[in-house]
Amino acid sequence: MKERLQELKEEALGKVESAQNLKEVNDVRVAYLGKKGPITEVLRGMGKLSAEERPVIGSLANEVREEIASQIAAKQARLEEEEVERQLASETIDVTLPGRPVKTGNHHPLTAVIEEMEDLFLGMGYSIAEGPEVEKDYYNFEALNLPKGHPARDMQDTFYITEDTLLRTHTSSVQARTMVACEGEGPVKIICPGKVYRRDNDDATHSHQFTQIEGLVVDKDIRMSDLKGTLEVFAKKMFGEEREIRLRPSFFPFTEPSVEVDVSCFKCSGKGCNVCKTTGWIEILGAGMVHPNVLEMAGFDSKEYQGFAFGIGAERIAMLRYGIEDIREFYTNDVRFTTQFKRA
Ligand code: PHE
Repeated sequence: MKERLQELKEEALGKVESAQNLKEVNDVRVAYLGKKGPITEVLRGMGKLSAEERPVIGSLANEVREEIASQIAAKQARLEEEEVERQLASETIDVTLPGRPVKTGNHHPLTAVIEEMEDLFLGMGYSIAEGPEVEKDYYNFEALNLPKGHPARDMQDTFYITEDTLLRTHTSSVQARTMVACEGEGPVKIICPGKVYRRDNDDATHSHQFTQIEGLVVDKDIRMSDLKGTLEVFAKKMFGEEREIRLRPSFFPFTEPSVEVDVSCFKCSGKGCNVCKTTGWIEILGAGMVHPNVLEMAGFDSKEYQGFAFGIGAERIAMLRYGIEDIREFYTNDVRFTTQFKRA
C-alpha cells in the first residue's frame, strides 16, 4: 500500500506539474482527491490492515493528500498570476501617445451676437425679459396702440392662429406684458430677446422667422437724449468706437416721435461703398419715445412717466458684423458656415 500511495503521489504531482490551465489543475484535483479518487479508495481499504500498519498508512495517506493539495494550490496561484500578467501585458496603454483631439462646439453666430448684446445691456442695468412666441393679439398689437383694423398692422404681415392668437411679430409684446405687470410703478428697464415671425417670402434678406432684441425704459424724466445716448453706446460697442449714429424721422404706432437709426459705415467710414449702398450710412434699428397711449393702456400715468423703446434685428447686426450676405445661412445650419465665427 505504501508503494501504491507513493505511486499515486508521483503520478498526481506529475500531472499537476504539466497542467496547462486552471481547468486541467482542477481535473487533477477531482481525479486524485475526490471522493471517488484512488486515495480515498486506499483509505477505505484500511480496515483490512493490521493494527500496527493502520496508523502508518493512515498518516502517509494524509501526507500524500496534503502534498498533492498544496501543490495544486501553488499551481493554481501561479496560473492565476500568469493570467493577470498576460492581461496586463495585453492592456498596456502608452500614456505618452498624443491624445485624439476632441471637437468642441462653438456658438452659433446669432447666439454669439445676441449674448454680446445682452452683456452690453446687462452692463447698463437692464434686465432680460422673456415671453411667449404664441401671443395674444392684445399684447402684440392692441396694447401697442394698434387696435383691430389699424392700417399700420399691415407693416407686419402676421401668422394668425385664431382670431385672437398669433405668432408674435415682434418682441414688443413682451414689453407690453412687462409694463402691465408693473402696475403703473416704474422704473422698467428691460431688453426682450427672442424669435419673431412674419409672413414674408424667404430670400437673402427676409426670413419668416428671425430674432429681435427690443429694449424698453420707462421712468420719470426720460428724454429723447437718453435714447440717443443709449443707442450711441450700442452702435459704438457693436461696430467700433469711431462710429456715429444718425436719427431719421419715422413712424411706429407705439412710439412718438419715432426714428430709424443709422450707423456710419464701418467699411468705408462714410465715403460710400457697397455695404452702405454709397450713402455712408447703414440702417440698424427702429426706435422712439413710448406713445402715451401705450403707457396709459399698461397702467402708467403718462404725465408722470415717459419711456423710450428700440427694436434691433439680431440677424441684421450679425450680417453686418460678419459680412454675411444671406439671412438663410443662419437657419440652414451648415457647419462649414456656423463654425466660422468666434464670439468677440
Ligand atoms: N417693434 C418694432 C418692429 O418690430 C421695432 C421697434 C421697437 C420700433 C421699439 C420702435 C420702438 O418693427
